[in-house]
Amino acid sequence: MNFDLSEEQIQIRDAARDFAENEIAPSTVQRDIKAEFPYEIIKKMGELGFMGMMVPPQWGGSGMDTLSYVLALEEISKVDASVGVIMSVNNSLVCFGINKWGTDEQKEKYLKPLASGEKLGAFCLSEPEAGSDATAQKTTAVKDGDYFVLNGIKNWITNGSTADVYFMQAMTNPELGYKGISTFLVEKSFPGVEIGIKEDKLGIRGSDTCTIGLNEVRVPKENLMGEEGSGFKFAMETLNGGRIGIAAQALGIATASFEAAVKYSKQRKAFDKPIADLQAIQFKLADMAVNTDAARLLVYRAAKCKDEGKKYIKEAAMAKLFASKVSVDNSLEAIQVHGGYGYVREYLVERYLRDSKITEIYEGTSEIQRIVIARELLKSY
Ligand code: CAA
Repeated sequence: MNFDLSEEQIQIRDAARDFAENEIAPSTVQRDIKAEFPYEIIKKMGELGFMGMMVPPQWGGSGMDTLSYVLALEEISKVDASVGVIMSVNNSLVCFGINKWGTDEQKEKYLKPLASGEKLGAFCLSEPEAGSDATAQKTTAVKDGDYFVLNGIKNWITNGSTADVYFMQAMTNPELGYKGISTFLVEKSFPGVEIGIKEDKLGIRGSDTCTIGLNEVRVPKENLMGEEGSGFKFAMETLNGGRIGIAAQALGIATASFEAAVKYSKQRKAFDKPIADLQAIQFKLADMAVNTDAARLLVYRAAKCKDEGKKYIKEAAMAKLFASKVSVDNSLEAIQVHGGYGYVREYLVERYLRDSKITEIYEGTSEIQRIVIARELLKSY
């Protein structure tokens, strides 16, 4: 597999890096402390084409490949993983599905504003009793003339209160189990959509996570995506791509941690020399570099498999499993290299640790990734 970047991919990566360093970085720490959503930044990212990167221009997007998306997401998450997850959910979990399975009417009405950044989307699968066991959906959608009436609770919804449109899973036929799950496009403004309190999180505090209640929400039948009963397949296929996005987010945090450790170790002196001259520190930096590069290769491989129309379920799960572990490991090691300074807010590495942990949990825990990998690899032996 050739990992040389094209001129266009290099330009996208550099544009994302410039934007992250100049427009996102100055306010990242304050947003983390105050748990503030980056409204203005997301608006600008929409204008720059970062919110619908893989959607064709015809539907308001930038028409780029997955690798370009990964490069941009990595750069943005390196500076602010909260902005990274907002971008990832809109691109991978909402625009992807509407582009793939939506009707032209749904694309005109919902995809265009979502891909161009005028509106924001959220993906609603998890429920209080359906996390890793995603088939155990309890939210119902009952047909009533030209409408479906939705009732239930969705939780841990990224962009929950800030999104305008939800890519929502609900049971249209509970007797069929997961084959009775369907996908709907639900607007936040529909009567009966109830937004819960924003979660007070350990990390990615600049992003918005909350519970969504659905109380007799009447959704027009034209907002059903595809056939009734195809929702679980849509959700799983969507998450395959989503996992590449979260892997890129994790890679961004891992890289930031590594670079912070290198920089600090060259500045900090102990025993009359920079601590970078001590083998105890060099071994840490070497391990961090190896793991970061290995994660990057897995993430880029998954993106390229998707772009080349190859199977990527296993590759995406491997990338997410490994990159998320590296992001946690690197941030812990970066704190260790910083000593006491790493434990306080003045240096950024304590946030990297807090932000990294969620990458091992959302869009499928590391345990779920192992299940996905094992099932896929056993098919080919
Ligand atoms: N890709 C495509 N199809 C898949 C799939 C995948 N990765 N995984 C399962 N499927 C299909 C299966 O082929 C099967 O369909 P058929 O019967 O037609 O063959 C169907 O889905 C059911 O699959 P299983 O029989 O394997 O079901 P299971 O219950 O044994 O396992 C699971 C399913 C893999 C554990 C799944 O429930 C899962 O992925 N769970 C994790 C859910 C998750 O990732 N949640 C994240 C929430 S969203 C989020 O975090 C977003 C955010 O805000 C950041």
